[in-house]
Amino acid sequence: MILLIFTSLFSSCQNGEQQKQSTSQFTMTESFEPDIDISLTATPAELQLFEGEKTAIYTYRSELIKGESKSLQQIPDSYLGPIIRVKPNQKIRIRYNNELPGESIIHWHGLHVPQEMDGHPRYAINNGEQFVYEFVVNNRPGTYWFHPHPHGLTGYQVYKGLAGMFIVEDSQTKLPSGKYEVPLVIQDRTFDSSNQLVFLGNTMMERMVGFLGNEIIVNGQSNTSMEVDKATYRFRVLNGSNSRIYKLAWSDGVNLTVIGNDGGLLSKPTDKPYMMLGPGERIEIWRDFSSTNSGEQIALNSLAFNSGTNMGMMGSGREMGRGMMRGRNRMQSSNNPSNSFIDNGDAFTVYNFIVSEKEGEVMTLPENFEAVKEMNLSESVNRDSPRQFEFHFQRMQWLINGKTFEMNEVAEWEKVKLGTTEVWEFTNGGGGGGMMGNMMSMPHPVHIHGLQFQIIERDVSGVTPAVWNSMKEGFLDEGWQDTFLLLPDMRVKVALKFEDFTGIFLYHCHNLEHEDMGMMRNYEVVE
Ligand code: C2O
Ligand code: CU
Repeated sequence: MILLIFTSLFSSCQNGEQQKQSTSQFTMTESFEPDIDISLTATPAELQLFEGEKTAIYTYRSELIKGESKSLQQIPDSYLGPIIRVKPNQKIRIRYNNELPGESIIHWHGLHVPQEMDGHPRYAINNGEQFVYEFVVNNRPGTYWFHPHPHGLTGYQVYKGLAGMFIVEDSQTKLPSGKYEVPLVIQDRTFDSSNQLVFLGNTMMERMVGFLGNEIIVNGQSNTSMEVDKATYRFRVLNGSNSRIYKLAWSDGVNLTVIGNDGGLLSKPTDKPYMMLGPGERIEIWRDFSSTNSGEQIALNSLAFNSGTNMGMMGSGREMGRGMMRGRNRMQSSNNPSNSFIDNGDAFTVYNFIVSEKEGEVMTLPENFEAVKEMNLSESVNRDSPRQFEFHFQRMQWLINGKTFEMNEVAEWEKVKLGTTEVWEFTNGGGGGGMMGNMMSMPHPVHIHGLQFQIIERDVSGVTPAVWNSMKEGFLDEGWQDTFLLLPDMRVKVALKFEDFTGIFLYHCHNLEHEDMGMMRNYEVVE
């Protein structure tokens, strides 16, 4: 309740009466002949997640109207939506129905689709309404995802269960497939003693930091582990959390073999001692269990790190001790074992893999994949004077270049030309933050809609050494990405090419509480 009041206060008083687009035009097109036709309905539901009382959730109920049966995979006993599997160039129709108590719309995170298909909040539909998506899959094979995007309500709706994976399949035969290709959607949640989801408390501080739960839920299920064969696996890992950042590592000290990230496979596999994964980001991991003893348990852990969060004058208004650990002994805070609040940067176990006796398919790690084409920076129209985007705190708000989200507003400095390549430089804090600004710092996972970009430079010279040293080996600035972690006082340059579609797209912080509070803006691609 409190949350909803806060949310509407935030979105309405900052932006006034938001003008919304009429959605009546987004009905089925006769001439569009889909390869895959799916109906997705966002609805409240109840799920037997734990023993005892059922948990009230939101979920995407789905039905395959046309297409191969594997195009739509349900995850049993999960609050998550289905896994949608498509192939490049396929034509997709999604009939989205909203049965939620409030407005909503779906965003296809990472996909390169026309602006009307991208799930901008101005297309949000009300309870009882339908929005029909029709688009062609333009993306490289890779691990994408979908989630709600109504302004001011995204964090709450995702938290309640609305999210799903959207996989663009490759024709790779050298990678594990079938039951050896496993999605891992990592989220943190807090449940009360009657198994109900607890969202943000009512302190300003908690909203400013973003939701942090005291329990890890993988794939929307209550299992804390899975049995694996003595075989080679491909894990598609998504951080679907509102605000939590993970520092992922194997418990047995084996390096993480990263084969892909947001926009698909890398040019070649890369070994990392650990990987940082901010909200919205994906990585694909190769792991061979064939020489592990049966019965052995190997955990995917999140290691301790210093997130650089400094909430300065906000004080620590944390409601300590709320929520229970459910006695399942998970996510013990490394710093405060007696406390049920698990901070960003505390260590805990994410998931356990128990190796069985079954021998499965064992594969050899390919030396390389199809080379990722590097963007041609000499084509860039502003290589020497990149557009500047500062993510910072001011006037008790999280802002971008001093601005908050306005539904239909695009500033002059947010207009780009179709067909051009640009360099954008993102900074976190500093500049015009003023006294309060400098006292409030947090990492921001930066997400740009509508395209995949390449990171061309990550300047860490301003980052506090204790922060950087605690995670410096966990960044992978290769391949195609749509989301990256911007630490306090870090500068990141990305190269982007605005192709195919004109119109208004979003860019924002993917800490969903920051996004809902207005750390989001439009950019427009013009002719
Ligand atoms: Cu995954 Cu605009 O978000
Ligand atoms: Cu943020």
